[in-house]
Amino acid sequence: MVPFSNASAAPSVYDLIEEIAGRLVSDLGLDPKKAGVRTCQRALAYALRARLTLDRIRRKRFEKDHPGRIAYILCPELLPGPLLGQILDALDLSGTAAEALKHYGVSLEQALAAEPDPSLGAGGVGRLMADLLEASASLGLPVYAYGLRYEYGGFRQAIEDGEQVESPDGWLHYGNPWEHVRRDVSYLVRFYGGEDGEKNGWRGTAKVAAEPCDMLLPGRRGGREIKLRLWSARPSRRFNIDPSGDYIRSMQDTVRVESISKVLFPEDAASQNRPLRLLQEHFFVSASLQDILRRFEKSGQPAKKLAEAAMVHLHETRGALAVAEMMRLLVDERGVGWSEAKDVCRRLFAYTCHTLAPESHLRWPVDLLEEVLPRHLSIIYQLNHDHLEAARNERTLSDTEIARLSMIEETPVKRVRMAHLAFAVSGKTTGVSSSQVEALRQGPFRELDQRYPGRLTTTANGVSHRVWLLQSNPDLAEIITNSIGPAWIKDPARLAELIPLAHEPNFQSAWRSARRRAKLRLCAELETSLGIHSDPNRLFDVHVQPVQAGKRQLLNILHVLWVYETIKSNPSYRPAPRLKIFAGKAAPSAWLDKLVIRLIHLAARTINADPRANQLLQVAFLPDYRVSLAKRIVPAADLFQQIALAGTEGSGTGNMKFTMNGALVLGTPDGANLAIRDELGADGTFLFGLTGQEAAALRSSGYDAAAFAESDERIRLVLEALRSNRFGNGQPNRLQPLIDALTREGDPTLVWPDFGPYLEAQCRVEKLWTQQDRWLAASIQAVGHAARFSADRLAQELAAKTWSVSSRNLSS
Ligand code: GLC
Repeated sequence: MVPFSNASAAPSVYDLIEEIAGRLVSDLGLDPKKAGVRTCQRALAYALRARLTLDRIRRKRFEKDHPGRIAYILCPELLPGPLLGQILDALDLSGTAAEALKHYGVSLEQALAAEPDPSLGAGGVGRLMADLLEASASLGLPVYAYGLRYEYGGFRQAIEDGEQVESPDGWLHYGNPWEHVRRDVSYLVRFYGGEDGEKNGWRGTAKVAAEPCDMLLPGRRGGREIKLRLWSARPSRRFNIDPSGDYIRSMQDTVRVESISKVLFPEDAASQNRPLRLLQEHFFVSASLQDILRRFEKSGQPAKKLAEAAMVHLHETRGALAVAEMMRLLVDERGVGWSEAKDVCRRLFAYTCHTLAPESHLRWPVDLLEEVLPRHLSIIYQLNHDHLEAARNERTLSDTEIARLSMIEETPVKRVRMAHLAFAVSGKTTGVSSSQVEALRQGPFRELDQRYPGRLTTTANGVSHRVWLLQSNPDLAEIITNSIGPAWIKDPARLAELIPLAHEPNFQSAWRSARRRAKLRLCAELETSLGIHSDPNRLFDVHVQPVQAGKRQLLNILHVLWVYETIKSNPSYRPAPRLKIFAGKAAPSAWLDKLVIRLIHLAARTINADPRANQLLQVAFLPDYRVSLAKRIVPAADLFQQIALAGTEGSGTGNMKFTMNGALVLGTPDGANLAIRDELGADGTFLFGLTGQEAAALRSSGYDAAAFAESDERIRLVLEALRSNRFGNGQPNRLQPLIDALTREGDPTLVWPDFGPYLEAQCRVEKLWTQQDRWLAASIQAVGHAARFSADRLAQELAAKTWSVSSRNLSS
């Protein structure tokens, strides 16, 4: 074991061999001679956790005498991917660990592959949070993060006979070696009950205990590790012994309580799950805020001064309940006056809105809030009253505008607009791309923006270049370091030094070889996992995202059908050979999206088996998309598609990861696609199709999908292919629901109006691809511009403008 007094010294190979042996014996109860891959991986993780903890202890001792402002980030989801590689890199111990593992007959690659992906989320926000934390840690920013310790935050996707089949993702099956369960700290979170009419208060509540599990996420050397506290729900007391001996009934309460943090209830959850989702959200924010207050109050200062030492960053409407809970904690539990408490909240909270469409902003039915959180509902009413009263007094808004400004939506089922609550009470609201903020300003946040001018700003998303380039694309990272030196690892702005090299033939050829090696690795994976034999000379055209109508995998696969049909009918049509790669999960209840996955497989089966067509086109669907799989796909892509219906994508971060690895983006004019086009110019980006405004205008002018489809022979061709049963796998009408969605049901994601422009954009892609020197130059330039899309830039911007914190490390 690492001696306490020797905490900061880097271990030698021998030290690490000993530490692994110690962990195998003490934590896993195993004979080191009998250790296998998984046990070695876990023992190594335990050894590293001990080192991180010792670093943390040193820091805390130091900071006790140098307190400073802290930013607390409430992460509704978190998708960091397997942590071993990232932690070894951060501690600069990859080489030492590789040697130490050899002693046990295990390679570092095997150990890295043995670690499961933490299943703590389902989508883009979770990944953004992980990159933001990595960057904040590497920059030495004083950040703490909170989340829920979902046992099943997502699901596993298998494909059986071309269909998605889901199973639970038990990532905690072997335990999580990075965490410490802190049974000494726990908080009671309250629900139900009723309001106390006499005084501000809440009585007769049910209580659930929040138990923290801590993980340390390190930054690169010189940075500052971040403590991530994940909450588990536990009964507030042990079960009641039932005198009749009915233990099953007694245990049911425990099961019910623990289900609060067991699964991430999806947004489209069936209505019977909705109350549980509300419990889950309140549990998360209440436990986190109580912890923040406790830490602050330990300093002996009164709670009303909290905002001088801390800020709390809420993400998505799922964090919005925090403002009502903080009001309750201040007013009811600490006796702070109402106005003063509101002032604390305004200075304490910032809220980031990640989505665009008003329907993706959470709106809790008033009835449900009244039942589960009655005190919070009356706090929200009071906050809303103050908010509207001030607006009315100014007499600048009409009644309709006041209704739109209100936190309460007066529809037949009255609802609380959680985004309005978060916006109106916190001091800052940020959006994730300029186009999203503009659309929010014109749409759902129009009155809020007028009422609180200057509060809504843009802080564009970013992704970690250390995670997505340095770690996941070692070949390209090596070429970069060899040509411009290693300074880019700390400072991504240095990647701009690649731009002058973009047209140099020698550099281009090194670039091409590095990219080819990554493509070869993916080819090997396709061969073993799917039996698809491909080759790296093809254009690797990638579309990896959640499979959802709005992300329009359908548009992409219809292009595949069009290419295939044209190859079949026109012998002189010889497009550049391509490999289309898809990956992504459809929500278990989204049967139409699952049918799109089915169609991709049907198309793949037919096309890959056609000896002439497959020379020009292949289709692959890699199952169970997750961070570790993304890390293998991203380096191999030549082209990345982000083709959501314009006006529905807040930003997108996949587009940034792929750009950062030298893939070019084919996308719709929305979110970060626009920023990428601004940065790289038209030669390196292929944007097409309707803008968000045009899409809205088309809809309101009465778009007739069936007539539109009939008027375009390219569309008729693909519809005919769908109807012909050529792809139906002997099951007539199998694809009929997709045909109906695209015709009779009005084509809700406007696939057809974008279909022609999409084919034309694909032609532009082909044209550039056939001029490899220009393509390579664009690819190098894409990486050269990565600083704008880096999480370091995002974290720095947040630290300066939203968190008001500055870097701190032990030497500062
Ligand atoms: C949401 C948005 C996506 C954005 C992500 C992170 O998933 O839909 O556009 O990139 O949040 O901000």
